[in-house]
Amino acid sequence: MNSPMPDDFRKKIEQELESGNNSTRRPQRSKSKQRPDSKPYIKKTGHKNPDTPQNTRPGSRPPMGIQTTTLWEYPSQHYDSQLGNMQGRKDYTGATPSWVIYQLLKRYTNQGDTVLDPMCGSGTTLDVCKDLGRTGIGYDLNPHPQRPDIKQNDARKLPIDNNSIDFAFIDPPYSTHVDYSDDPRCIGKLDASQPADRTQTVMGQDYYQAMDAVLGELYRVLKPGKFLGLYVSDSWKKKKGKQGDQAGTFMPIGFELFSMMSQAFTPVDIICVVRHNNKLQRGNWHKSAEAENFYLRGFNYLFIMKKDPR
Ligand SMILES: C[S@@+](CC[C@H](N)C(=O)[O-])C[C@H]1O[C@@H](n2cnc3c(N)ncnc32)[C@H](O)[C@@H]1O
Repeated sequence: MNSPMPDDFRKKIEQELESGNNSTRRPQRSKSKQRPDSKPYIKKTGHKNPDTPQNTRPGSRPPMGIQTTTLWEYPSQHYDSQLGNMQGRKDYTGATPSWVIYQLLKRYTNQGDTVLDPMCGSGTTLDVCKDLGRTGIGYDLNPHPQRPDIKQNDARKLPIDNNSIDFAFIDPPYSTHVDYSDDPRCIGKLDASQPADRTQTVMGQDYYQAMDAVLGELYRVLKPGKFLGLYVSDSWKKKKGKQGDQAGTFMPIGFELFSMMSQAFTPVDIICVVRHNNKLQRGNWHKSAEAENFYLRGFNYLFIMKKDPR
């Protein structure tokens, strides 16, 4: 990308989600008012009101209720698991918020179910499965080196039997916003804002064709009557040397993937997952968004689809 902004955007958001928002933390009582045990007073208020002061440190994050509206928010990238295990890898750029996967597994799976993530990255899905007693199967083109439980595989051809998976989750690359690996098969190398060459006229044709193959595989392996969750964001790419309305290209990746999936699956719902952009308050991110007439991504889509029973 030409500007550091879109390339670094997701990484910054992930770091922000990981660190939480210090400015919203409840101020400690003065010493004279502290309780006898002198522990800081941190009330676990739950996560439903985004304005509620909360502590997002490991060990004292708000309890995980079940989200009941289509607007999902939680003040941390991770939740405090029953097993005390971390979900995914902190150092992995582009990791999925583990609490999103937790919400899906709680709703759409039972103990012992088999859950597939064909783009498993740092293994977040597998760790949530472990926590909740589900059997996780994870593949990735470039598995995290410290995750031998993730097998290397191209998501366009899954080594899995038809109709054998109870739930599938996928968080694919959103065009070229993160450099995941040097593997030429990486879908994150396909630009959803560009025709691949002069013979193509459709924007992002190669990206969408690749994703179509992945979604086809997910449909094939899912048991009839079972569910798929796809977590994705739209994207915006800066054009070098351009200003104002010409400054960049908007890629409606969410709507495009939703429309592709709807051809085979039945849509169940669309969830909007809030991205905490607090770190973007620093630097000139917001100024640039205003000056160059684009928007910073404030949410991710979570599409829930069902493979119809036969
Ligand atoms: C957004 S990340 C997934 C993050 C993961 N859910 C986690 O929490 O760590 C997207 C992943 O897709 C993988 N990927 C890209 N193209 C792929 C392909 N053709 N087959 C399998 N994985 C692919 C990348 O290597 C990257 O790990």
